[in-house]
Amino acid sequence: MKCSVSKTARLLIALMLIASLLTACGKNGNQSTPAASEPTATEVPATPTATEVPSTPTPTPNPLDSMTLKEKYKDDFMIGMAMPVSVINNAAFKDVIVGNFNSLTFENETKPDAVLRKEECQKGLPDTYTEPVINLSVIARSMQFAKENGIKVRFHTLIWHSQTPSWFFTEDYTPNGTRVSRDVMLKRMESYIRQVMTYMEENYPGQIYCYDVVNEAIDPPHGDAAGMRKDSLWYEVIGPDFMNYAFEYARKYAPEGVDLYYNDYNCYSKSQQIIECLRPIKEAGNIDGIGMQSHISTTDNVDRQIRGTAAKFTAEGYKVQLTELDIGQATSGKNGEEVQAMKYAVLFKKMQQAKQNGTVDIDCITIWGLYDGISWRREETPLLYRFDGSKLVKKRAWYGAMQDPEIKAVEY
Ligand code: GLA
Repeated sequence: MKCSVSKTARLLIALMLIASLLTACGKNGNQSTPAASEPTATEVPATPTATEVPSTPTPTPNPLDSMTLKEKYKDDFMIGMAMPVSVINNAAFKDVIVGNFNSLTFENETKPDAVLRKEECQKGLPDTYTEPVINLSVIARSMQFAKENGIKVRFHTLIWHSQTPSWFFTEDYTPNGTRVSRDVMLKRMESYIRQVMTYMEENYPGQIYCYDVVNEAIDPPHGDAAGMRKDSLWYEVIGPDFMNYAFEYARKYAPEGVDLYYNDYNCYSKSQQIIECLRPIKEAGNIDGIGMQSHISTTDNVDRQIRGTAAKFTAEGYKVQLTELDIGQATSGKNGEEVQAMKYAVLFKKMQQAKQNGTVDIDCITIWGLYDGISWRREETPLLYRFDGSKLVKKRAWYGAMQDPEIKAVEY
C-alpha cells in the first residue's frame, strides 16, 4: 500500500514534469509567440557585420520564395538598390542582388565629395581654375559587376548642397579661400557635369540610364519666396537660377535617351513649389523626371503622400521614380515588423496599380540599401533583408513588397 501510494505520487510528479517541459518547449520553439525577453529592434547593434534580430517566421513553404522582386514587377518597373561598393565583395550577397534588382545606385561613391580631388585641383592651378579634377575609379568593379549581371545604373548625384566640399567654391580650392564669382562657378559646374558624363559614357557606355542632376534644392520652410533652399553654396555663389544651368548643361552633355531627374525628400509637402521651380527647366526640355526619395515610416500614409504626389507629377508630364525607399518601423518587435510589411505591401500594390492604370508614369522603385545593418536608419530596421552573419534573410517586409496575400495591404 505504502509502496503503491508512493508509486502513484512518483508517476504524477513525472507527468507534471513532462507537461511543464512541453510548455517550455512550445514557448521557445514557436517564435510566433515571442518570449518576454525577445530582443527588440532597437537593441540591434549598429554595426554592419552584427548578427541581427531573428526573423519573424514566414509560413513555409511560401510560393513567393521561388520568385524575386524584379521578376514580380518585370512588366511594371525596375527594382533598384542603393549599394555601397563594399557589398559586391561578399559572395553571400551576390545571388540576392542579381536575383532581385535590376537597377543600382551608388550610395555615396558618385557624390561630389567622393568624386572631386582637392589636391589635384590645387596643384593644377591655374589650368584647373575652371576645370576641376575628378576621379571616379572607385566604382570600376561595381560597374563591371552591374554590366555582367544586366543591372542598369542611376547616377546619384551631380549638384547638391550637401556632400559637396566648400573648397570647390573658392579661388584657390582651399576651404577658407575667397569665394569665386558666379561666372567662374558656372564654368566649374559645366566642367564638372561634362567631365562626369563624358567619363561615364566613355568608360561604361550605355550603363547609366538616368542622372540625378540636382538633389534637394527646394526647402520651403527655410527657402526663398519660391521655396529654393538658401543654405546652399550653389545658391549663394550662383543664385536661385543655378538649377536651370545645371539642367541645361546636363542636357547638353547627356547621351541621347538618358533621363535627367530632379530628386528630393518629402515631395508631398512641397509638390507645388517643386513643379513651379522646375517649370522653366521643363519648358526648355531639359528635365525628364522627378525622383521622390521616400524615406518614410510606418506612420506615413503612402497612398496620399507617395502615390498621390507621384500622380500629380505625372499629370504635369514628368516621369517618376521612388529613388531612396526605406520604411522605418515606428514600433519595434514582431508587431512592428508586420505593420512594416503591410506598409510595403500597400506601397507596391498602389504603385503597381497606378502604373497599370496610367496615372503614375513610374519606371523604377529603388530600395535604399540591402539590409538593415548597413542602413543609414539601421535603428529603425527599414529594409527588406537582415544579415544573420552568414547570409541575407528575407524579412516580412520583403514578402510585403512581393504583395504576399498573407499580408494585409491596408494602412491605418
Ligand atoms: C539623402 C540623399 C542620399 C543619402 C540620404 C541619407 O536622401 O539623397 O544620397 O545621403 O540622404 O543616406
